[in-house]
Amino acid sequence: PVSVYPSQDEASIQVAQRIAAIILDKQAKGEKAVLGLATGATPVKVYKELVRLHKEEGLSFQNVVTFNLDEYYPMLPNAEQSYVAFMKKQLFDHIDIPEENINIPDGTLAPEDVQAFCIAYEQKISSFGGLDIQILGIGRTGHIGFNEPGSAPNSGTRLVTLDDLTRRDASRDFGGKENVPTKAITMGVGTIFKAKEIVLMAWNEKKAEIVKKAVEGEISSDIPATYLQMSDNVEFVLDTDAASALT
Ligand code: F6R
Repeated sequence: PVSVYPSQDEASIQVAQRIAAIILDKQAKGEKAVLGLATGATPVKVYKELVRLHKEEGLSFQNVVTFNLDEYYPMLPNAEQSYVAFMKKQLFDHIDIPEENINIPDGTLAPEDVQAFCIAYEQKISSFGGLDIQILGIGRTGHIGFNEPGSAPNSGTRLVTLDDLTRRDASRDFGGKENVPTKAITMGVGTIFKAKEIVLMAWNEKKAEIVKKAVEGEISSDIPATYLQMSDNVEFVLDTDAASALT
């Protein structure tokens, strides 16, 4: 299903409330809420609202475990462009989540250790009973996580090569495309699919064309986001601009 909101702010508040409801429900049962998180511009206002719910309405993250979708490779956690730094700045530094509950792919691994790490990442998600919700943005290549064109529907967490367009879109953060890492560690399409709920968000005109392909186009590895059409648990949450090309 597709939900269209008048603005990014209203849509983001809805998504944050959905996440908060999962956290509260699990809390009442004495269980952990397992969240799959994304970086980039898209979820920033969701995190802002979660921080507000924590600070103003007492929402606790003590029972929350998080798994981020991806990290550049190689990448030091304290580098400005790392997704570790992003998540701290946007969310983790402002809430009461226990540090040991935070999981982000490790951009510092030696090449020979990457595969074992990826398998362990999958196992760790499973050990918590799987993701209760996975939030996603969409790249202009049609990637979800860093599952670029060519990714298989059953792919797991792995080392991938970033598409040229993805590196170009990231070039501002790195002061030039040549500084953007060529690789990343990402959850796979299959990993994402195992989440109990999937929410793909997209805002603004720049995403309208790829959103149309993702929602209405033929399912194909050329646009990995089209795989989401095969899920019964996905919601596309859009603002009017991102939805403007839909028929
Ligand atoms: C980020 C991620 C990516 C982004 C996508 C959109 O963790 O996995 O798929 O969601 O590149 O990026 P923004 O939100 O910056 O437009």
